[in-house]
Amino acid sequence: MITLKNAQQLDKMRAAGRLLYDIMQRLREVIKAGETTAAIDAFAEEQIRRNKAVPSFLNYRGYPKSICASLDDEVVHGIPSDSVVLREGSILSVDCGLILNGWQADSAFTVPIGQVSADKLELIRVTEACFFAGARAAVDGNRIGDIGHAVQSVAESHGMGVVRDLTGHGIGRNMHEDPSVPNYGTAGNGVRLRAGMTIAIEPMITLGGWRVVEMEDGWTIKTADGSACAHYEHTVAITPNGPEITTLPGFRFDEAHA
Ligand code: MF3
Ligand code: CO
Repeated sequence: MITLKNAQQLDKMRAAGRLLYDIMQRLREVIKAGETTAAIDAFAEEQIRRNKAVPSFLNYRGYPKSICASLDDEVVHGIPSDSVVLREGSILSVDCGLILNGWQADSAFTVPIGQVSADKLELIRVTEACFFAGARAAVDGNRIGDIGHAVQSVAESHGMGVVRDLTGHGIGRNMHEDPSVPNYGTAGNGVRLRAGMTIAIEPMITLGGWRVVEMEDGWTIKTADGSACAHYEHTVAITPNGPEITTLPGFRFDEAHA
């Protein structure tokens, strides 16, 4: 069931989104070589709680931490650990969600650790471009397939792979609501988008193929071919004035993101 959000509810989602944006900016500053992923998780949880919000990932279906920290060929859901030390040359995807006053925000980014290869930098850049192409299509009257088609077109025009087994999702009072938001699809197909819908768009893009495998920890997802993967996610509201990215307050679409 798709739940539409009214103006008051959207305001609460904006507040959650703004808080998550602020925390993600601070997280970017603490991510560096020598740091453990557990330390980054602890920092995130502390920031969330100090702002009277709740970490949405913690205990979600038994997930043990407040962020996901996925390195290189890990796609998503890497579990932060004291034994994972960040090393120059890697790329790290950080995914985090919170609940403020009962309303959710969900966001992810990928960053290089120190100097990384040109192809990894290009992967990060293209994954972000995939998100913005998808978000641009999140307008009233369009369909879910328009978002997926836009994401897939950008990725594949750069020879990159689009992970299919995981998708974006509706979001609101719950982290995962209908509809599912695939990163591939056919323009004009699927659920019709309406003002009041709020969705997380989250391309997971690889330097290789789209196939993924789950690790024995029951969480970590890796690329099947060992290729590096990047992830970029924001919470997006479909409004009468076009898409609004709640986890990127103040952002406006312009030609640079066409
Ligand atoms: N942020 C992820 C998503 O976009 C969910 C993380 S799964 C969890 O759907 F178990 F870590 F919470
Ligand atoms: Co999400």
